[in-house]
Amino acid sequence: MKTCSETTRDPDIHSLANPAAVRVVHLNLELTVVFERRTIEGTAILTIERFSRDATQLILDSRALQIDETAISCDGVNYRGSRFSIGQTDKILGAPLIIDIAPDTKFVRIRYSTDPAATALQWLAREQTAGKQHPFLYTQSQAIHARSWIPLQDSPGVRVTFEARVRVPEGLKALMGAPNLVMDQPIPPYLIALAVGDLAFQPTGPRTGVWAEPSVVARASTEFSNMEKMLDAAERLYGPYRWGRYDVLVMPPSFPFGGMENPCLTFATPTVITGDKSLVSLVAHEMAHSWSGNLVTNATWSDFWLNEGYTVYIERRILEELYGSRRAEMEAALGYQDLQEALKTHPPAEQILHIDLAGRDPDDGCTSVPYEKGALFLRHVEQTFGRQRFDAWLRSYFDQFAFRSITTAESLDYMREQLFAANPQLAAEIPLEEWVFEPGLSSCAIPPVFEPARAIDEWTTHEWLHFLRALPLQLDAARMQELDSTYHLTRSGNDEILDQWLLMAIRNRYKPAYPRLERFLIEVGRRKFVKPLYEAMDLTQAAAIYEKARPGYHPITQATIDAIIAAKTTS
Ligand code: BES
Ligand code: ZN
Repeated sequence: MKTCSETTRDPDIHSLANPAAVRVVHLNLELTVVFERRTIEGTAILTIERFSRDATQLILDSRALQIDETAISCDGVNYRGSRFSIGQTDKILGAPLIIDIAPDTKFVRIRYSTDPAATALQWLAREQTAGKQHPFLYTQSQAIHARSWIPLQDSPGVRVTFEARVRVPEGLKALMGAPNLVMDQPIPPYLIALAVGDLAFQPTGPRTGVWAEPSVVARASTEFSNMEKMLDAAERLYGPYRWGRYDVLVMPPSFPFGGMENPCLTFATPTVITGDKSLVSLVAHEMAHSWSGNLVTNATWSDFWLNEGYTVYIERRILEELYGSRRAEMEAALGYQDLQEALKTHPPAEQILHIDLAGRDPDDGCTSVPYEKGALFLRHVEQTFGRQRFDAWLRSYFDQFAFRSITTAESLDYMREQLFAANPQLAAEIPLEEWVFEPGLSSCAIPPVFEPARAIDEWTTHEWLHFLRALPLQLDAARMQELDSTYHLTRSGNDEILDQWLLMAIRNRYKPAYPRLERFLIEVGRRKFVKPLYEAMDLTQAAAIYEKARPGYHPITQATIDAIIAAKTTS
């Protein structure tokens, strides 16, 4: 049964569906992956529940889906054809798919196929993979891209279970964020994921392991060999891991994000494989989402900071358990720098945790603000109340809201009632409204301190980033040359360091790094890396490289860079 709040609260402005009247609760998917035509042919059978007795239509989200036929059934055995229509297309939201239903309808069947340009899907030719032998397909559903490959009610407030059958060409393996393609715990649609390719597995512990192309899997599982320990640490802090297995799938370098917390199977960029485990906070982050995000989920994209702020906070608690507080503080300090930068460059409206996204693509809300300001807020609450009380409260929060999608207001109410009420003096030190509903940074924010390793040969990614970021913005050719020949930055095998260096190279017109810049942008499609580089280049340089690089990017990265190039063209 759905709770009252889930059916009566404000609707999600990023969905055109009607879950308050008729709600999809389960998906049965039969998918055929056709690489030649870059399409997924699907049959989706949706189980529905009614909240309004006189509802005569089921409304779903869709984007560029071709709908071939819809049918309805009361028993899941006998189907009869039903009328459907596709409403007007909105540039951001896609189009509503409206299906007539009868009073006794319990199942709705849809035959459909995806568009070659579906925004969730990246189709990679064999040349774009590590092994160069087989093609590769993967999905990225967050924030509102699930609707481009499955017709469903694409709102994080509408949780579904699912089961799938996936037909793929011989020799390829299909994985979903669900053990054996069955998810029997209700999840939001943005967590539904599929990857198809030549994939091999290596365990890193009894519950954890790594999937990747065969030539990558050994390196990847060495890098992530601490996953099992991380999972144990997270459970000690926040209660049982409720999803069975936790595996990581290492994606091709065009993957648009660092990581994506698909349940049971995090998708991760290969750019964190550095050989020294210095970027495993990414795994801690995606694993932390198993509590904050996947178990307790943001109800709308305005509540996104509930997912990411809590997760960054937990990520650093996991790091502290494994590597000690200096490491956790160091990463927090780098995050604090990112936040300072974001507060300098984003208008006040984007500095608010509970963000107004009216008329906007929710992917635009993905700045350092929900991540780092959100984490800093929780850190302030933790430091005010002390770990003992705060940890107990946070753990109870996950039990209280497990498998539910909640709003900012619901989460703050729980904080007030279960943490603040018992200790009003301490609560008075926390300007809750200011933290969550106002721009800028509360004066209560306590900046984390960066304490680098002393010897330069002990430096890892963090010290290098800290060092490079502290250099003056303008450096002359001689100084750039000197840095490069001393530290071999253009040749760095660490993409995080390389990205920072290439940014400096663009700013200071350091030409010896340009060929590397071009190769990097053609190979890597991680948005966090490529976006600042394109922004820093002038139109001529940016357009020339982008022309070569664009075909290799996921549609989400393409959309981001298209907008940057367009802005440069008109300015
Ligand atoms: N869920 C996010 C990725 C995401 C956010 C995809 C919004 C689409 C829309 C994921 O957990 C994340 O935060 N990834 C970060 C990792 C980092 C903070 C360790 C990323 O990709 O950079
Ligand atoms: Zn995240």
